[in-house]
Amino acid sequence: MMKAVVYQGHENMGIVLDVGSGVSLLKKGDRVVMPFNVADGRCRNCEKGRTAFCTGVNPGFAGGLHGYVAMGPYKGGQTQQIRVPYADFNCLLLPKGSANEADFILLSDIFPTGWHGVVLSGFKPGETIAVFGAGPVGLMGAYSATLRDASKVYVVDSVPERLAAAKKINCIPINFLEGDAIEAIIKHNGGMVDRSVDAVGYQASASDGKKEVPSIVLENCIKVTRPTGGIGVPGLYAPSDPGAPDSNSGKGMLLISFGKLFEKGLTIGTGQCNVKMYNRYLRDMIISGKAKPSFVISYEIGIDEASNAYVKFDKREDGYTKVLIHPKGPVEG
Ligand SMILES: NC(=O)c1ccc[n+]([C@@H]2O[C@H](COP(=O)([O-])OP(=O)(O)OC[C@H]3O[C@@H](n4cnc5c(N)ncnc54)[C@H](O)[C@@H]3O)[C@@H](O)[C@H]2O)c1
Ligand SMILES: [Zn+2]
Repeated sequence: MMKAVVYQGHENMGIVLDVGSGVSLLKKGDRVVMPFNVADGRCRNCEKGRTAFCTGVNPGFAGGLHGYVAMGPYKGGQTQQIRVPYADFNCLLLPKGSANEADFILLSDIFPTGWHGVVLSGFKPGETIAVFGAGPVGLMGAYSATLRDASKVYVVDSVPERLAAAKKINCIPINFLEGDAIEAIIKHNGGMVDRSVDAVGYQASASDGKKEVPSIVLENCIKVTRPTGGIGVPGLYAPSDPGAPDSNSGKGMLLISFGKLFEKGLTIGTGQCNVKMYNRYLRDMIISGKAKPSFVISYEIGIDEASNAYVKFDKREDGYTKVLIHPKGPVEG
């Protein structure tokens, strides 16, 4: 039996080496960045900008991804070359040269995803917001909220380096191991926040940081958000999880205070990020110098160092938050 080879890597950018006969907008030598979503640009969901739910690229399913099990036959980019389907639609053109490389790569996923989390929450400028999780997605969500003129941004996590990164971008760090995070936010804010973002997902830790409690962050969002406020959920929830701590969560069924959510009239938005909805505008904010998301990158390495980096990243060791891999070795200078 043939063994399927899945190359990982859904955050990809590079230089166009060649184009197929159906491509008319791109040419050899163009510098491009690709959304992690693969989309055809012509189905009903794509027509509405919901490219994360394209029904044309992964039969029987709404959504396709590079380098992801069950998300279509599209190989990932942790390799020297990658084939991009529907390339005119899926490639975003970047300025020539190598300027802003570490910023532009983040347009493939986490910068738009963080931004999307804030959009899903229904956020408006001037509002207060609490972001749970200070991983790459949470930090980009917090950064997006500051770019969009939030009056206060709280960031909840337990990893000191990640909380320090949140503080550097003028957010208020809350370490959930040092006391009740919800109480701390409400006390500091003088009441509940307008919006909250779950940038953790189902692999969330209990408040002692030990066991996994898949519903804890959703529950915290319901508690900390003011009546008629909103919750954005870019954090991942899956319809099945073989490693879940109980049989209901194993089937993707979580126990949350839905009655409280209803009583408070909260809105909740979920799902994968439609990267194409935002990446052009975020690119232009990078070009104009208004946004510099690369503060989140802790290391830049060659592809040969990747396996060691994965081990450290997995253990959240040595401040490993986001690692930029250069398949041909770090760019000189
Ligand atoms: N919607 C999308 O399109 C999309 C795209 C990319 C990633 N994601 C998902 O977003 C989530 C975050 O991604 P990431 O790369 O930042 O992950 P990450 O694992 O690096 O970060 C998660 C952070 O949450 C913290 N955390 C754990 N339990 C917590 C709790 N109870 N309260 C507060 N913080 C807690 C962890 O310490 C960690 O720093 C994941 O679920 C990922 O799959 C979604
Ligand atoms: Zn489509």
